[in-house]
Amino acid sequence: MGKSVLVINGPNLNLLGTREPEIYGHTTLKDIEGLCESRCSNHGFDLRFVQSNHEGELLDAIHSAAKSQDGIVINAGAFTHTSVALHDALKAVGLPCVEVHLSNTFAREEFRHHSFISAVAIGVICGFGANSYMLAIDALANYFEQ
Ligand code: DQA
Repeated sequence: MGKSVLVINGPNLNLLGTREPEIYGHTTLKDIEGLCESRCSNHGFDLRFVQSNHEGELLDAIHSAAKSQDGIVINAGAFTHTSVALHDALKAVGLPCVEVHLSNTFAREEFRHHSFISAVAIGVICGFGANSYMLAIDALANYFEQ
């Protein structure tokens, strides 16, 4: 059976392309979705790609993944640094999860250095722009093979 991967994007990531391009680059979320689509198809994975500015919608997406996905890639945006609820949801569904960030959050403001996601992720990839998502999908593929 082919695997299915959920890629979740949190608040403000819909603005990629125009949002602080000196930090996040010029790649749009639509571009990232296309890149994820082709990377997933290289691995034989189905892709479900979600973005929301609302924490509850992100929680609902994680909950529904329990039934229909095999792994999660999550860029929770600013909720990374605030959301116990996202931490709890990822822990509750128990799917392998890779945390991604476009920017290197550790080279930025101190409030970005703590993540509520990292402790429930199998690993963290940050600082490689849109390529962070590709590396995360490859990491999941590798994890599935173990
Ligand atoms: C981000 C980093 C977060 O600190 C920030 O709030 C974002 C984007 C990233 O992809 O680099 O919204 O998750």
